[in-house]
Formats: sequence, structure tokens, C-alpha cells
Amino acid sequence: MSDQVIIFDTTLRDGEQCPGASMNLREKMEIARQLERLNVDVIEAGFPVISDGDFEAVRTIAEEIKGPVICGLARCVAKDIDAAGAAVKAAAERGRIHVFLATSAIHREFKLKKAEEEIIRMAVEGVKRAKAMVKDVEFSPEDASRTEPEFLAKVVQAAIEAGATTVNIPDTVGYAVPEQYAALISYLRGNVRNIDDAVISVHCHDDLGLAVANSLAAIKAGARQVEGTFNGIGERAGNCALEEVVMTLKTRPDFYEGIDSGIVTREILKTSRLIARMSGLQVARSKAIVGENAFAHSSGIHQDGILKKRETYEIMDPVEVGWGGTELPLTKHSGRHAIVARLEHLGFRLTDGEIEAVFTRFKEIGDKKKFVYDDDLSALVDDSIGNAGETFALDYIRVVSESLTIPSATVRLKKGGEVLENTSPGNGAVDAAMQAVDGIVDRKGVLASYHVEAVTQGRDSLGEVTVKIDFGDGQLVTGKGAATDVIEASARAYLNAINRSVALKQSAMRRFESSGV
Ligand code: KIV
Ligand code: ZN
Repeated sequence: MSDQVIIFDTTLRDGEQCPGASMNLREKMEIARQLERLNVDVIEAGFPVISDGDFEAVRTIAEEIKGPVICGLARCVAKDIDAAGAAVKAAAERGRIHVFLATSAIHREFKLKKAEEEIIRMAVEGVKRAKAMVKDVEFSPEDASRTEPEFLAKVVQAAIEAGATTVNIPDTVGYAVPEQYAALISYLRGNVRNIDDAVISVHCHDDLGLAVANSLAAIKAGARQVEGTFNGIGERAGNCALEEVVMTLKTRPDFYEGIDSGIVTREILKTSRLIARMSGLQVARSKAIVGENAFAHSSGIHQDGILKKRETYEIMDPVEVGWGGTELPLTKHSGRHAIVARLEHLGFRLTDGEIEAVFTRFKEIGDKKKFVYDDDLSALVDDSIGNAGETFALDYIRVVSESLTIPSATVRLKKGGEVLENTSPGNGAVDAAMQAVDGIVDRKGVLASYHVEAVTQGRDSLGEVTVKIDFGDGQLVTGKGAATDVIEASARAYLNAINRSVALKQSAMRRFESSGV
């Protein structure tokens, strides 16, 4: 058995299923490029049948990303499989179709209303249909961890016979515990006749906080593909945090007997930051590996020990996961050339128009703050590509706010060639700015959450605001904005959410019929 674990990243599919995490094509491309640099083995780029946007994202990633296998998800129905096949076609030999079908008794009885034989028939048909389009087919019996092991073994065997090259055993609802999950993998290895003809994969959700522990237990039991996301983002409590699996294998070769991944670990922090920025889902300070405090020692005893010998209190070298890179800050005197070079160093691949937009904002900000750090620049890039194809652009904002008076804000927006201006009072400066925007655009939203964070240290740091807005059409839309003034950043974030919601509406989403399979 191979001692290399295949790292399957589903940030752009399961990760994006996290409420408010939806990303536009430009943002997904930046993430896909970073995943390529990180050297993940498989990128699950989306669920092509769900919407035109998902299809386009998978198709573009399949066309442009050259290293990893590019995978599209499909239910066990013809139109899904055909859409996934068409979307990954450009990846040629590196294209994978991932077909799933629920197998647990509860799903069979209440969701699918189908008997066991019918489930096996559908799984076989689905895999065969996918196999006619690509060589690399993955099959997932959804809710596998709650499926009767004997029936699961029959489905898995039939799927492999039909041509599945990877069989994934999802813990869809995060119900498994490590010993039991490992025992299930061992059971399949012992009871599925053709199991060696496929790679066993695991896909764990974190409802009980056990996704990483379950995945690692499964590796010990013989699984050789791990599915998850960086920062652990995903539906409900999220997916298995891949950076934790990767670093556990690297840190404990003694226990895992040399089983490792091919991940370029120094790219982990950059990946985490990029995903947090693009998805609008902040990383907890105490998050393992990538949280702000992951390697911060505040107690005197620890600091003393670290100074004497790092390994006294550090089990990993922070540099190995990308911490501690020194950056020379840019200043307002830095020219375009320096900024383009820094953007390239940070891994962004921007169009001329996007560089122009970043450069204009850089100059504005450089006038207000002494140093512009890499994180500042990344926030500006995010502002620029997050607003790709924007309908409304902020041209000017003025806010008057003083003790004992009602604040008021004036905003001027540009929409194509039109210039639109409005002034509004508000219950606080942020509210006034948002109400002033409301008076211009015809898409009012309710603020569901508001988060502001300093991008770097120091009083002149850029403030980055993330909002989640409910526009009343069933999904929260995330908006982000950065500026040295947090009221301006708030207005930018609100406008960004409005622009995204307009774009979502325009992309005429083909609704995913949840009543289907
Ligand atoms: O959690 C799950 O079961 C899934 C499948 C589609 C693999 O995401
Ligand atoms: Zn999942």
C-alpha cells in the first residue's frame, strides 16, 4: 500500500456550501492557483449542475490549472453526471467525476424512498455513465458512516466493479468516532472482494469536532485519500481541516509509520489567509497551525524554554507552515513596478485592469498610512477582484458624526457612466452610510452580521469589514471592504454585497432540486 496520502481539497465545493461563503469566479481562480502551488492532489472545483456559475468555475479551473486532478461533483442522475463530465473535459486525463448517492437506512427510507437493490442499481448506472466520460471516477455512498456495514460493502463492491477508481466513505453528518470509523474502514478492506482495485477515501464533517481525528484514524486503518478544506470551512460545523491532517502526518512519522502527503507545507499559511479573505470566513485566533496564536507563547516559562531550545514547547517549526516570512513594506513612494512584483510574489495573477484598480487604491492608502504591508495589499486585491464586474462603485463618501447629534452620511456612487449621490441620517455612522447607499440602489438588504478587523498592526492599519447581508432571497451574501477609515470600509463592504447579489441574480441560477435524488 502506498505511503502517500492523496489530499483532496473541496474548499471550492463543500467549503463554499458554508452560508455566506459563496465566491465569484475570480476569487475561486485565485484559490485554485494557490491550491496548485500547495501541491494538493485533487481539487473538487464545484457541483457543475447546480448553477451556471458553478459549471463555469469547474470548466475554467479544468482549463487553467495544470497540476492537480480537477473534479466535479454529481448526483447519481444523468444530467448531473453529464454536466460534470462536460465541465472537467478540458482537464483531459486529469478530469474526475465524483458521483454520490445516499445509502443509509434513514436516507433510503425518508429521502430517496428506494430499496437496497434499487440503490445498488443506481450507483452502478451512475458510475458506468461517468466512466464512459472519464477514466477517473469517484463514488461516495453518502452517509456511509450510518449505513449498515454489510450493505455498504455490497454497494462499494458494485461501484468498484462498475469502474470506480476511488471509493469515498463519507461521515456526512459528523456522527462517527475515531475507533468506530477506523473499524469501518478495516471492515471494508476485509469484506469487499475488489477493494484493492480502488483507493479508499475519507470525507469527515466536524459536527462533534472529530473530523480530523476520524480522518487520521481512517488513514491508520488503510484509507489513502483524505477529503477536506483548508481552515476546515464547510457545511454546518465544517469539514476536516486539511492543514491539521497534513501537519500531524509530518510531525508524527513515528506513529504514522512514514505515511505523508505531498503538500508544500510552507504554502499552508498563505493558503489559509487567502481562503479566509476570499470566503469572508475568519480564522479563530486559537485555530491549530494557522490561527494568529498558534505559535504565540505568552507565558514567561514557555518563552524562556523556547529561547533555550525551541523544541521544549514547539512541536513544529512555524517556518515550516509559512510563518515568519519577513516583508519589506511598501510606501507611497513605491512605483507600479514594485507593486506588480509584490503582487506576483504574493501569488496573485491579475489582469491589467485589476492591477490598475489596486494601484489607484494603493496610492490613496499610501497617502494615509506610512507603510503598506503584504496583508494590506492582499486586502486591496480582494476588494478589486471581489468586485469583479461590479454594478456600483464607491466614488466618494463623507460622514459627519459627533457626540449628541444624529450622524449623517453622503455617498456618491458610479454606475456605468452615471453618478448618483444621496445623503441620509442614521442610527450611527455605519448605519447612515448604509442608508445613504440604500437610497440609491434598488436592492436593500438586512445586515445579518458585521465584523471589523485590523489588517495589520498599528493605529493606521487598514480596517477590513466583512458583512453578511440578507436580501430576502434565501441566502446570505457576504461583502468585504477595506480602507483606513472603517466607515468607508463598511460602505465598501455593503456595496460589495449588493454587487454580488446583483451578479448572482443575473447569473440566472438553475435551482438545485433538493426534492430530487
Ligand atoms: O458530506 C458528504 O457526504 C458529501 C458528499 C457529496 C461526499 O459532501
Ligand atoms: Zn461533505
